[in-house]
Amino acid sequence: MGKDGVVLVVLATMVVMSSAGFDFGGSNGGLSMQYYVMNCPLADQIVKGTVNAALQADPTLAASLVRMHFHDCFIQGCDASVLLDSTKDNTAEKDSPGNLSLRGYEVIDDAKDKLEQQCPGVVSCADIVAMAARDAVFFAGGPVYEIPKGRKDGKRSKIEDTINLPSPFLNASELIRTFGQRGFSAQEMVALSGAHTLGVARCSSFNSRLSNPDPTMMDTNFATSLSKTCAAGDKAEQPFDVTRNTFDNLYYNTLSRKTGLLFSDQTLYSNPKTRNVVNGYAFNQAMFFLDFQQAMVKMGKLDVKDGSQGEVRQNCRKLN
Ligand code: HEM
Ligand SMILES: *[C@@H]1O[C@H](CO)[C@@H](O)[C@H](O)[C@H]1NC(C)=O
Ligand SMILES: *[C@@H]1O[C@H](CO)[C@@H](O)[C@H](O)[C@H]1NC(C)=O
Repeated sequence: MGKDGVVLVVLATMVVMSSAGFDFGGSNGGLSMQYYVMNCPLADQIVKGTVNAALQADPTLAASLVRMHFHDCFIQGCDASVLLDSTKDNTAEKDSPGNLSLRGYEVIDDAKDKLEQQCPGVVSCADIVAMAARDAVFFAGGPVYEIPKGRKDGKRSKIEDTINLPSPFLNASELIRTFGQRGFSAQEMVALSGAHTLGVARCSSFNSRLSNPDPTMMDTNFATSLSKTCAAGDKAEQPFDVTRNTFDNLYYNTLSRKTGLLFSDQTLYSNPKTRNVVNGYAFNQAMFFLDFQQAMVKMGKLDVKDGSQGEVRQNCRKLN
């Protein structure tokens, strides 16, 4: 048998083993890298194609897709609860003030339509959200990473559950504690916060910092400039760093210059435990990329539902 033959046999064995439930590369909580290999082999490419087309038209959607995955996973686990529309009997997560400007739902709908044509009833909305976040990070210039799949879509989405999202007014020790409750180290929390290299926040998320700016927490010129921006109102937007559509490590540099946008960003530079990590990532982008992708894979496994607890929705906005 030639070299190619050996490779084929190894690949075939991996496919057989993975359909028998074996995982490659650590504990995946019932998820698997090869989950759609048999029933929807083009799933990853279809999502990637849809996301790339959407981001070419509107690069600011990369931030929204990454944030959508975070909000999904931190409320009730990664189960696409963030996508459900409210009904006459139920106010869903997305109608909470905590949805804070989430966008990009139509990108997920578009990918879902294409997947339903190709392999009906197979690919969950929760997996689409996880894949879309991955593809958005890469599109914006961030690391490429693979994610295990097999999440099922949950049946609950309630406005009151959004209380589980961290508030932008938490200090570093509170952030360490809330992320710690979900199994993340302080370093992983700082790495995940690096998603704020993408996108913007509205003045309502940070203007309470401006009335009496603390010079140890905010550069004076920066405070003046933010006050000008926010003169336009609570909905005025400010990018987290100067490259809002590029996934890089500039976010961490803003923190060492006291130009972090949210209190929950700047506080990472106040606590000695997290400051070292911030400085490390500001200095070494490759280290940030590596830690970020590992933390994203981990986030994508939060309270994942299996077939007995969830379903594969036909339409991501409503239960089957
Ligand atoms: C550490 C705790 C975190 C807090 C307190 C927090 C809070 C916030 C707030 C208040 C905004 C601005 C919303 C607005 O004003 O419209 C925001 C935006 C954003 N967040 Fe976070 N976040 C946190 C962690 C994360 C994580 C872990 C991710 C993803 C892995 C993430 C991704 C994003 C992105 C990409 C945006 C920009 C959204 C856009 O431009 O559309 N955040 N976050
Ligand atoms: C977010 O919630 C507000 C109500 O607080 C609602 O008007 C808005 O449509 C929601 N946004 C999305 C994208 O669902
Ligand atoms: C962080 O917030 C908690 C709760 O409000 C408070 O007890 C603690 O003193 C704060 N830590 C610092 C360093 O400000």
